[in-house]
Amino acid sequence: MPSRMAALLALALLSSFASAQVKLAATPPMGWNSWNWFAEKVTDKDVRQAADLLVSSGMRDAGYVYVNIDDAWQGTRDEAGNLHSNDKFPDMKALSDYVHSKGLKLGIYSSPGPKTCARFEGSLGHEEQDAQLYASWGIDYLKYDLCSFHNGVMRKEHPGDSPEAMHLQYKMMRDAYEKMHQALLKTGRPIVYSLCQYGFDSVWQWGPEVGANLWRTTGDITPTFDRISLIGREQAGLARYAAPGHWNDPDMLEVGNGKLTLDENHTHMGMWAMLAAPLLAGNNLSQLTPDIKAILTNREILAIDQDTLGKQADRIYAEGPIEIWARPLADGGSALAIFNFGEQRCYLRGISLHLEQAGAFRGWSARDVWAAKELGPIDDSTHFTIPRHGSVILRLSK
Ligand code: GLA
Repeated sequence: MPSRMAALLALALLSSFASAQVKLAATPPMGWNSWNWFAEKVTDKDVRQAADLLVSSGMRDAGYVYVNIDDAWQGTRDEAGNLHSNDKFPDMKALSDYVHSKGLKLGIYSSPGPKTCARFEGSLGHEEQDAQLYASWGIDYLKYDLCSFHNGVMRKEHPGDSPEAMHLQYKMMRDAYEKMHQALLKTGRPIVYSLCQYGFDSVWQWGPEVGANLWRTTGDITPTFDRISLIGREQAGLARYAAPGHWNDPDMLEVGNGKLTLDENHTHMGMWAMLAAPLLAGNNLSQLTPDIKAILTNREILAIDQDTLGKQADRIYAEGPIEIWARPLADGGSALAIFNFGEQRCYLRGISLHLEQAGAFRGWSARDVWAAKELGPIDDSTHFTIPRHGSVILRLSK
């Protein structure tokens, strides 16, 4: 009997461990990241201020809970190999306590290579030590960025572009990501694991195997509509790889950055929500305008992103600059987006909405999400006028 009891106990422990694992990133992670605005200049003070502003702006309560320090926090290693933060971050544990005291979580950044992309200290050869350090600080999220591991390690070890060399390079890359995965598991702390290797080797096909909760599918985003719309459109076909716990990451939000127009900001946010993308705001929260705040905190848009079914949208139709994307939702309905990537206003004349491909049928009704307006029954020929670089997002239900 005692052995049966022990087996039952082990089973109970295992299943509670498994469900704790599933709960990590059960919906796409939301928060703020320092890179898109502060880049290498980020300081402890900026991160504390971002935490304060997430709370005072209402963003935390809308779901933006991760405060992620990107590159440029690292100092040097001491003789024992322990990494220290640099002068801009005098006390990481104190910073972490501060962020946690606001009901938020703290994220950090490193690389499997010797150096990060901004040439700060990477984790190569110190994976376990770094993972333990993060856990001791109370870190909740790690972005692990390939950077110098690519040229400095993979390509050095297996030079050339032959299929054999590439195969071996990519094997090294996967092993490096698995190594940090194991190091994170060993800490016993739930830490969201974010892969950043720009989509190499179709990462969406193997990300979950190395413990990734999310993986970048592209190179870096910039605050221009050309770049944002290209990245968005390139996500076609990736929907099948997203699921609770494992998300495609088309990169952090540029909403509110650069010279994006209001329509472009709406389209960017709406597209990322349709894509079940992680939503990491990348703007300067101390300059949050009411328009940008309304876009970032629109509860109905966020509900699409965070839908518990976890099904990412895919493209169901394209005609020139017009694209229609759809995703099923947990309540049995669907979300449908019509994007106008073109340079002119579009009246959708002659363009069918393809409602059946969106999983919606005759007699279904639509709600215009950004307008917060019930449109009533809808059919394939319902007309919309969509401005240049604009979009319409509909929530469809029986
Ligand atoms: C890479 C990543 C960016 C950012 C920088 C930091 O370019 O893709 O998101 O983390 O490195 O150096």
